[in-house]
This record gives sequence, structure tokens and C-alpha cells, in this order.
Amino acid sequence: MKHNVNLGDIILENVDIVSVISQYVQLKQMGKNHKGLCPFHSEKTPSFIVSEDKQLFHCFGCGAAGNAIQFVMRIENLDFLDAVDALAEQFNIPIEQYKYSKSGNSQENQASRDEKSHMMDVMRASAMYYYKNLAPDSIGFSYLANRGLDRQIIKRFGLGLAQDEWDGLIKSFSGKELSILEQVGLIIKRKDQSGYYDRFRNRIIFPIIDVRGKVIGFGGRVMDDSLPKYLNSPETILFNKSKTLYGLNLAKNHIESWDDTIIVTEGYMDVIALHNAGIENAVATLGTALTKEHGKLLDRYAKTVVICYDSDAAGVKATLRSVEVLKDIKAMVKVLQLGEGLDPDEYIKKYGKTKFLAELSSAKAGVVYSLEALSREYDFSNEEEQVEFIKKAVEIFDDLSDNIKVEYFIRTMSNFPQLNESYIRSVVGNVVKDEVKIYHKKESATTQVKKRQPIDILEERLLALAYTSKSNCQLICAKLPVENFTNDILKAYMTAFVYAYETRDKIEISNFADVLEVDQLLLLEKLMKRAIPSTNEVNEIDEVIYKHKMIGIEQSIKEVRDEREKYLKLLHSSALDNRDEVLNTCNVLTKTEQTLQQTLREMKIKRNH
Ligand code: UTP
Ligand code: MN
Repeated sequence: MKHNVNLGDIILENVDIVSVISQYVQLKQMGKNHKGLCPFHSEKTPSFIVSEDKQLFHCFGCGAAGNAIQFVMRIENLDFLDAVDALAEQFNIPIEQYKYSKSGNSQENQASRDEKSHMMDVMRASAMYYYKNLAPDSIGFSYLANRGLDRQIIKRFGLGLAQDEWDGLIKSFSGKELSILEQVGLIIKRKDQSGYYDRFRNRIIFPIIDVRGKVIGFGGRVMDDSLPKYLNSPETILFNKSKTLYGLNLAKNHIESWDDTIIVTEGYMDVIALHNAGIENAVATLGTALTKEHGKLLDRYAKTVVICYDSDAAGVKATLRSVEVLKDIKAMVKVLQLGEGLDPDEYIKKYGKTKFLAELSSAKAGVVYSLEALSREYDFSNEEEQVEFIKKAVEIFDDLSDNIKVEYFIRTMSNFPQLNESYIRSVVGNVVKDEVKIYHKKESATTQVKKRQPIDILEERLLALAYTSKSNCQLICAKLPVENFTNDILKAYMTAFVYAYETRDKIEISNFADVLEVDQLLLLEKLMKRAIPSTNEVNEIDEVIYKHKMIGIEQSIKEVRDEREKYLKLLHSSALDNRDEVLNTCNVLTKTEQTLQQTLREMKIKRNH
């Protein structure tokens, strides 16, 4: 029981954030929230908001945010446990009973540590055994020599040989180590339980070594064309493939001298061939797809990650997947595709190091690679397909959280000269999935998340333009009355803007603390942060409102048509006594549609002049 209790939760359930913060900041109630001068940066007008409902604080000036404990940690410069103690004492919350129960049984921990170190000893001894087998007169040695590897590189990677025997490894250990050997997956129990046999037989052995230099697993390659080409030792408490990169133990010392770049390949032999050519910043995944955990690891060691997989169809597919998996890492992700179906090992052999390095220096950004692949599925001569492509591209780009990224996006999209830039600017706006969730959740109580429609995107854009200046806001309202906004949340923001501009010339998010809830404020902040600066605001407002109107009319046309469909169906049913009336309504709807179509045509013509 005790283990499940979270100290932080107990504190948060028993303190009120407003009373905590009031001891440091003079707070004033404004509607649902409290507002004051931020204690974490210096400011003259308050942008520090505390929400009683949510029990959170947020400063719209410096971005500081969190709960009561985080506030105390920050303002008193305490670590988590000390902040918990301070609050517990101050608010008289009994927590002693919950403390000191989390470390568990130290005897157990010691046992598992012993087991691990025993396993590591066995792994190291096995690696030594295989290495010694790879004598210069062995078939393994000549296989590797044929592939261009010499003693020195064999030694660097600790390569070895499993002889063509069922018990070579077994014989090199004493009987009492067998259960550990089985545990690490190097030997396998016979079906008839009469003992064990070696997992790796008649194969070149690649020890897998972690960044601390411990042998944690093995790969083994046949020396002919038999299958399976590679075998790998199974995952154990030491060896987790989705967190391990082959060669990182060596590469980590060279990444810095390659401008903080790391090259990720698919194969053991690719890594070894690159290192052999003096390109020592190369690693490989272990026959598994690249994972988010690999991404974290890469982030820890490098600022640029170059994915360099086999250039066959499977490699291209894996590359696209990996770009997607790595899209949230801090490092820049690039793709080097070698062509001719070659893998890095084969490429270096065929074209040499210099050519490989030239290719490396012109590696494409991962997103560009993905966008180019995607673009092949669209026909840009069709405007609708352009829009679909832009939307998909935004999804691929995903993070458009600041103007630099947005500009980068737009510049990237200019690789496709057939796309209309002003359309990109207004459509792209700021597609962010979580915001969409928030504002559609409000609209319909059912939690179903609607997709953001083009009209929402346009209205967000208008909102962003209105936020920039009072004159923009006035211009927008003159051309498109606030009532005509279709998205209720955005309409509410726009109304708040109009109201705020009545008493000020410039507006800030914190001005709305008294009329908006904290999550609405946060959403607004995100939307505004993401907004792209306009190159010509007046023109853009014109453009966006034009599109807004067009979409509005198109929407009405669709509604009129659907309505008419309903009446037409009625006409087909036999039991209808007001047939004339229904016919009449159909005619009226047809006329209405014609008028709307006419308006649409006129707008287009006017636009083109
Ligand atoms: P490749 O077939 O591309 O191997 O598999 P490679 O590295 O180019 O090897 P060579 O040049 O033929 O010697 C890439 C990686 O996929 C895993 C291995 O990790 C291999 O390095 N793999 C491949 C397996 O785990 N099992 C297999 O049967 C094949
Ligand atoms: Mn290969």
C-alpha cells in the first residue's frame, strides 16, 4: 500500500495554490483567475496568472508554469522533497507515514547486481573465446580479409569466430557457469534435456558492446550464402536492442571531430567498413527498426544524425520510418541515400571514401527527403491536391512552434515551385493537434475530435493578424464582422480582442486573464506564438477574407444541395399529399443555388481583375 502513495499528490490535494502563491505575490482576482506581477522575471504590467480551478500558475511573460510544489521549488530554490516538506509543515499535512518506503529491499537489489555482474563476466569471457578462435589461419580470418578487413580492425571491433562445433563455447567454461551461459542466450538446452549446445556455430562473431565498454550481446554471420545470414543473441537484462547502437562504444569518441555528426546505418558490416575507411562516427541498429529510445541516445551524443541505409526499396521505406521516429529529437536529422541499391559498405568499396564524404556533405534534411517522397503521390496541377499536399506536409513537419521553424518550413516548401506560396502561408497557419483537441472539446461535449477545417485555419490566421495590431483588427472587422466567424472558440478570442482594443493600442495574452480560462489562455498563447509574420498584412487580410467568403459560399451551396436532395427523395415516395409544395421548395432551392453560384463566379472574376 505505502508504495503506491505519491507524496506530491498528497501535498497537492491538501494545499491551495492561491494561498501558497499569495505569500509571495500580491494576487488580484480577475474572473476565474488571479493575476499578479511575476516573481520570476521583472515586469511592470502583470502577466502572471494563477488558476484556482486548475491549481496551476503560468506566466505569459517568461513562460514559468507549474503547480504549487513547482512554485515553491523555484521560488525557494528547493528540490522536490524539500519543497514537499516545506509545504507539509506549513499546511500541517502529515506525510511522515508515507516517507522512506520507496527504496525496497536492499538485499534483493544486491542480488540482482551480483547476477548482472556475473553475466557480464561470462559475456566478456565468451567474447575472448571467440576472438582467440579467429586466428590468422582460420577460415573466419580469410573471410574477413576477403572483405577488406585486417588484423587491426578485427581487434578494434573484437570480432571473433564460432567454430563449426556444437560445444566449442561450452567446453571453454566450467560446468557451473552453464546456467549463466544459458541465461545470456549463448547456449541452448537440448530438447531431450541431455545438456546444452552452442547457439553460434560456424559464424563470424560481432560482440555488441555498450558505451561503458561492457559486452552485452553478440551477432553472428555465416561465411557463405546459407540462411539465416545473421543470428543475434536474445535480449536479456543486460541487452535491450531498442536502446543499443552497434559501434557507439567506438563512435562516441569521434563524433565531436565530425562536427557532432553521427551516421546511422543498418548493418554490422556497414559500421565496420566505415570505421575501416576512417569514418569512425558510424553506428548501426541491430536488425530492428530504429526506436524513440535510439533517438534519445543519438540526441545525447550528436547534433546531427545522418541516416544512411541500404538504398534498396526496403531501405527507402525504413528511412522514411526512421525520419518519422526521429522527428522529435533535438538533433538535426539528415538522410544520405546512396543509390544503385548499394549499402554503405558496398558504396565505399565501389567508389571510395572521398566520394562517400562528398555525398555525406550534401545529405538532405530528413523532412525534405520525406516531403519529396510524399510529393510523388500528388498532382500539383490540381489545386485541391496542392492543398492536400500542404496539409500532409505540415503533419510531417509537425513542429511549427516558432517563427524560425515556420520560415524554415516555407523555405523548404519552396523546393516545390509549383506550390502557391501565399496559399501555403494562409493554409499552413498553425496546425497543431492538441490545440484542435482543446477547442473542439469545448464545442461539442462529446469528446470526439473533429479535424481542423480550412475555415478554422483561415480564422486562426485572421486572429493572428488581428493580434499584431489594432489597425489590422479594425480592417478585419470592417471586412468580416466577428459574428461571421464560424469557429466559436476563435470567435470568442476575436471578440475579446475587439473589446481589448477599445481601451488599448497593443494587446497581450495576459490582458485576457479575467475573461478566459487558463487553458483557453494557453491555447491562445500557442496560436499566437505560432503565427507566421506576414510580408504584407493588408494584402494578406484581403486574401484570407476572400478565401473565407468563398469557403462560406461553397459551404452554403453544399447545404442547399443536400436540402434539395432531401426534398427530391420525398417526391419519390408515394404517400405525399403536398406534392406541389415540395416541388415548389425544390425550385426555390435550385434558384438559391444558382444565385450562390453566380455570386461565386462574380467574386472570382472581380478577384482576377
Ligand atoms: P543486411 O542483410 O543488410 O546485412 O542486414 P549487411 O550488414 O549488409 O551484411 P553483409 O554486408 O551482407 O555482411 C542488415 C542488418 O540486419 C540484421 C543484422 O543486424 C544486419 O547487420 N540482420 C540481417 C539480421 O539480424 N538477420 C538476418 O538474417 C539479416
Ligand atoms: Mn552489406
